[in-house]
Amino acid sequence: MSDVILRVECLHKVFPISKERQVKAVRDISFEVQRGEIFGFLGPNGAGKSTTISMVTTQLEPTSGKIFIDEQSILEDPALARRKIGVVAQHNNLDRGLTARENLIYHAKYFGIDDKTANKRADEYLDKFGLTERQNDYVRSYSGGMAQRLKIARAIMHNPDILFLDEPTTGLDPSYRSILWEQMLALNKAGTTIFLTTHYMEEPEQLCDRIAIVDKGELKAIGRVEELKALIPSNNIISIKLANLDPKFAEQAKTLPEVKNAAIKNGVLLLYMKHNKPDFNQILEWVNKLDSPLQNISLSASTLDDVFIHLTGKGSVEHNENK
Ligand SMILES: Nc1ncnc2c1ncn2[C@@H]1O[C@H](COP(=O)(O)OP(=O)(O)OP(=O)(O)O)[C@@H](O)[C@H]1O
Ligand SMILES: [Mg+2]
Repeated sequence: MSDVILRVECLHKVFPISKERQVKAVRDISFEVQRGEIFGFLGPNGAGKSTTISMVTTQLEPTSGKIFIDEQSILEDPALARRKIGVVAQHNNLDRGLTARENLIYHAKYFGIDDKTANKRADEYLDKFGLTERQNDYVRSYSGGMAQRLKIARAIMHNPDILFLDEPTTGLDPSYRSILWEQMLALNKAGTTIFLTTHYMEEPEQLCDRIAIVDKGELKAIGRVEELKALIPSNNIISIKLANLDPKFAEQAKTLPEVKNAAIKNGVLLLYMKHNKPDFNQILEWVNKLDSPLQNISLSASTLDDVFIHLTGKGSVEHNENK
């Protein structure tokens, strides 16, 4: 068995949206996911994450490119690939006219799982995700968080080799978020490869073996968290809190000789410095010239969020268009 469970070669997707306009959602992306990895696939809104997941899970045909699961082309044999993959899609694709339990059992039956095993797994996952009491209610009566929990339970019913999770924790309260991760880590320990997109940077920073960052349909970087952090030249960031933060300050800061890049995040101006020991006096001099009193200034090491901003120019939850 190959060490590579998923291989994507020059994947490209163009959506025609009118006679004159098209969106290049995914632009010639190539990467590999190793068997047993927890792999993060991160990018701003509209970066092409869900489009990529739809293609590698056989739900959407690429404009061009190749996709292999276990070295088998999924475009040539999608049915074979489907048995090996589980998907928690970003949108709610549960059958609203069925009960929660029926959603799980029908899914298991589709994959040829015998009744006894299907019922046993359904009991286990309904319990784990706190749905036992509501298992016989129609899914249309479910809250957003309950539906999300059921989508996760359904995706793992057939014990997939690789599980794709498209923003799985969105809508989950903190206790179910930690139950989800407990469950994912247990599955991963038992051999399931996990492919994850999320906008919560602390999740991939703690959990992922490797991370790919995409923006505007392009692959910007791929590697272990430490390798990605090394992409920020100095690994040093100056955070500046001002009484009145003007977005143009970030643009001005980029012209300072010691500053590699600048961005605003959560109302704080972040300066990505070129060198390890930045000249604070020079920065303070510049800050004092701004028409805004300084409230706080500090120096810190980079986080995954900083890598994200450095590579995409955006915070992890900001909007991004790629026409
Ligand atoms: N069916 C479609 N028809 C036309 N354009 C589409 C379609 N699906 C996606 N797009 C466009 O493709 C681009 C990538 O969208 P995609 O949903 O893959 O982004 P994403 O990275 O998952 O973003 P988010 O973080 O918001 O979920 C966007 O510009 C989007 O408008
Ligand atoms: Mg998406």
